[in-house]
Amino acid sequence: MKLTDAEQAMLDGQEGPARQRAMDLLVRYGEALDAERLVEVSNVAGTWSSTTPWVQADLERPEDFDTIFSRFNLDADDTVETPSAVVSTCQLIHGLDARNYKLQGYTDEQAELQRKSEIFFGKRGVQWNSTCTPYQVGNVPVQGEHCAWMESSAVVYCNSVLGARTNTEGRESTGAASITGRIPYFGFHLPENRRATHHVRIEIPVATMMDWGLMGYSLGETVRDEVPVLDGLAATPRPIFLKHFGAAGASSGGIEMYHIPGVTPEARSVEEALHGRAPTDSLVYGAAERQRAWDNLNGANRDDAIDFVMLGCPHNSAEQMWRIAQMLDGKKISPNVHLWVHTPRQIRTLCDECGYTGVIEAAGGHVMSDSCPAINRATPPGTNVIATDSCKQAHYLPAITGKETWFGSVEHCIDAALTGRFRGSLS
Ligand code: F3S
Repeated sequence: MKLTDAEQAMLDGQEGPARQRAMDLLVRYGEALDAERLVEVSNVAGTWSSTTPWVQADLERPEDFDTIFSRFNLDADDTVETPSAVVSTCQLIHGLDARNYKLQGYTDEQAELQRKSEIFFGKRGVQWNSTCTPYQVGNVPVQGEHCAWMESSAVVYCNSVLGARTNTEGRESTGAASITGRIPYFGFHLPENRRATHHVRIEIPVATMMDWGLMGYSLGETVRDEVPVLDGLAATPRPIFLKHFGAAGASSGGIEMYHIPGVTPEARSVEEALHGRAPTDSLVYGAAERQRAWDNLNGANRDDAIDFVMLGCPHNSAEQMWRIAQMLDGKKISPNVHLWVHTPRQIRTLCDECGYTGVIEAAGGHVMSDSCPAINRATPPGTNVIATDSCKQAHYLPAITGKETWFGSVEHCIDAALTGRFRGSLS
């Protein structure tokens, strides 16, 4: 791999032991990928979470953050002092909600440890956005900006909707990128790999968040990790639709990038998305494909008696929180149901001030931040059957919790929370 003088100096240890280990990691990683060089990144989104049991295992002191950083963010065998980030760096989702941690099964001591880790890494440049949707709370890289992001739903949004450039990175590579400002130049950093491979003709109206989730789930199952271009949409999608579309496609398959001519920034036309070449494959998305996605998510479920409703995967926008509060205003959820509504911590503060949190709590629900059940594996005690408005959560929760999980619209899920029954359907 060709290194610049500055990169070679880091590898030689001239910038200290942490950056030396980070550069060593990036060079090994890049060589494994046949990357010819590194690229400068200006935006990193990863995890510095310190409270999960597997991170805490074998530590002599729970607050040994230097060892946590060395071991888990640099893949180093020895402990080095944690340096400051050199580029904008933010924490994605982690396990513990600072306000509602007891509902998630965490202790006061774990919450205190989380707080201390936020201060430790915060002083070193990590912004604790604590959400899988950093783009909803001000972290919005521009078109062409090279980034190093983890979290599949964030990666596909970053590449497709923002036109910034990232692969799906890991904890170690984002840790190394934050203190060196580099990542291997491969995959979606290269313009030629951003070309659409699959032409998808849309034959039905795709008008709601549920519609967009089902379309993403269907396409992910078909195109896997290739790049679709969507042709024939009747209406311009909202950002929350694209958020759900990408998350669904990244969970049923491995979609990291897509194009919508006239909407996403790298494709003014189908031809431009295809870089002037013929597609590898051509597909149709119609009523049969929509039905199949619904059946794949819900077809194995038998019990419609719901005891847990999870909303906000990916984390809800302020508008989504407002609409949920409207639906719950003056109502009470079923005494047999727990309702958790997830949103970034910054938006929760906004919801507190706008009164949405109060409305949701008065109805019997909880507004959760920083976390989600698929990441922290926490569900309310006694949960047997779950309902969610997220294809991604419905895809993962049965495997993670062993519980039946219904997918439906926000309206279906609010109805389930109020009645204790899932009555959603495609019609
Ligand atoms: Fe975010 Fe958790 Fe869903 S990380 S995308 S809320 S599975």
